Formats: sequence, structure tokens, C-alpha cells
Amino acid sequence: MEEPKGRKSGAQVYVVTSGKGGVGKTTTTANLGAALALKGVRVLVVDADIGLRNLDVMLGLENRVVFNLVDVVRGECKPAQAIIRSKKSSNLYLLPASQTDDKESVSLEDFRQVVDFFRKEFDFILIDSPAGIEHGFKTSVGVADEAILVTTPEVTSLRDVDKVIGLISAQQMESRLVINRFDVDMARRGDMLSVQDIQEILSIPLLGVVPKDDSIIISANYGEPVVYNPKSKAGGAFIKLAGRLLGESIPLDDWERENIWNKLTRMFKFGD
Ligand SMILES: Nc1ncnc2c1ncn2[C@@H]1O[C@H](COP(=O)(O)OP(=O)(O)O)[C@@H](O)[C@H]1O
Ligand SMILES: [Mg+2]
Repeated sequence: MEEPKGRKSGAQVYVVTSGKGGVGKTTTTANLGAALALKGVRVLVVDADIGLRNLDVMLGLENRVVFNLVDVVRGECKPAQAIIRSKKSSNLYLLPASQTDDKESVSLEDFRQVVDFFRKEFDFILIDSPAGIEHGFKTSVGVADEAILVTTPEVTSLRDVDKVIGLISAQQMESRLVINRFDVDMARRGDMLSVQDIQEILSIPLLGVVPKDDSIIISANYGEPVVYNPKSKAGGAFIKLAGRLLGESIPLDDWERENIWNKLTRMFKFGD
């Protein structure tokens, strides 16, 4: 029988999802997790992308993986043996995915048991979901209390996330939007959808905007979330996202807002 959704005791569980691949789910999970941990709360990030794990690499923990989620489900290790503490923060832990098992190896009931076990140990649990809307998506959404939906400003990404919004709202789950890889110059020139356009199309609350920033790619290669780089614009954006998740009231920056000039440019170019 389905358990009712809603707040359980212990950690609040978020699924980070999108529909489309390559839009920044894993980047968002790693950086939001690291940013929350920097703010002093205890965070577990869970890689639910079984067969295509990435989160361990983005956190620079790939050499420390011994057990994984599938091992926990199969009883091959205790849950506590499978989680790995971040080198950078004593508040941040990773539950890695298996690299070799089948995508279907973890049932909704199995996954729920594992996540519920960790609820009492952490304040936040962030689940990095696989692309698509199949089994891995359904199990990740099925165990979460709320969703963080990631999109880029491109129409293909928006269409996929719109479909996901429909699936998630059918389950009475709340969701908030992260607009990732936002190109400030293109938006200024009126060559890209603005934050306001995207909000109008999707009409779900905005958690924040993360700019397109090469330091994300560099830091991913070094296995160090960009939030630890004080010069990075994307890192600053993730810190703000974390603050908003913690209930802080943080307004949008000027670069996130549309000004009258790029609105007029866009109207002139596209006639909307
Ligand atoms: N804001 C950004 N600016 C620049 N590159 C980004 C940004 N966000 C993600 N990327 C890059 O895009 C690629 C896909 O990101 P990833 O988080 O793996 O997506 P997903 O998990 O949705 O498949 C990675 O190479 C990542 O470094
Ligand atoms: Mg990913």
C-alpha cells in the first residue's frame, strides 16, 4: 500500500530531477549538498542513477567507494557502511550508486526503506535522479517529499521538465525550479528566454538561477564542487539556492531579472 506523502520525522527528502539528461541534475545535487553542508546542516546525497553513476566523481570520492545502494538493498553491507564522508565537509555524505547493476535492481519499497533509515541521521537528503521518466525516476520521486526540477533555458529542456511537472503534481508533491546554465549575455541581448518567460511557461516557484559558468566544468574535473570556489559565480548561486531551501529570504540578483531594454529587444526580434 502507498504511504501518504508529506513530512516524515527527520530529514526532508528532495529528488533532483528534470526529464532531460545533461541539464545539470548531478551538478545541482553535488553543489546544493555541499552548500547546505557549509551552512551547517547534515546532508546525505544519494546517487540513484544506477549503472551511470557520476555523483562520486563530482564530489571527488570515486576512489573511496566500497559499497553502494544496491549492496545495501541486497543486504551485502549495513547502510552505514555504504555512505562516504566528504573530504571537504564533515556534514556531507554520499551514498553511491552501483556502476554495474541493472537500472531496475532497486524497487520502490527497497529504496524507501534505505532512505527512511537515513532520515533520522540527516537534516537533508538529496536524491540525484537518472534522466528519463522510467523506473529510476519513479523510484526517486516515490521516496521524496519534494522535488527540485532542473532545466536549462532551452525549449527542449523546458518541454521535458513540463512533462515532469505534470507527473509530479499528479502525486500532490511540491516542486521548485532551478534554471541552470543561464547565459547572462544571451539573455541581455534578448537571444534567450528570460527567467520571467520560463516562470510564466512553467508556473512553479523558482528556487534560483545558476549561470553558465566554465568553472563548473573545471571543478567537476577536479572533483570539487564549485561552491568551494569563492570566485565562482555559479558557486555563489548555489549558496543562495541552499539559503532559500533553508527558508532564508534571498532576492534575485539584477542579472537574473529582466530589464525593460532586453524585454523590448526581444519583442522587436521575435514579435511577442
Ligand atoms: N551552470 C553550468 N555551467 C556550465 N556547465 C555546466 C553547468 N551545469 C552543468 N554543466 C556541465 O554540463 C554537463 C552535464 O551536467 P550534469 O550535472 O552531469 O547533468 P545531468 O546530471 O542532468 O545529466 C557537465 O559536463 C557539467 O559540468
Ligand atoms: Mg546526472
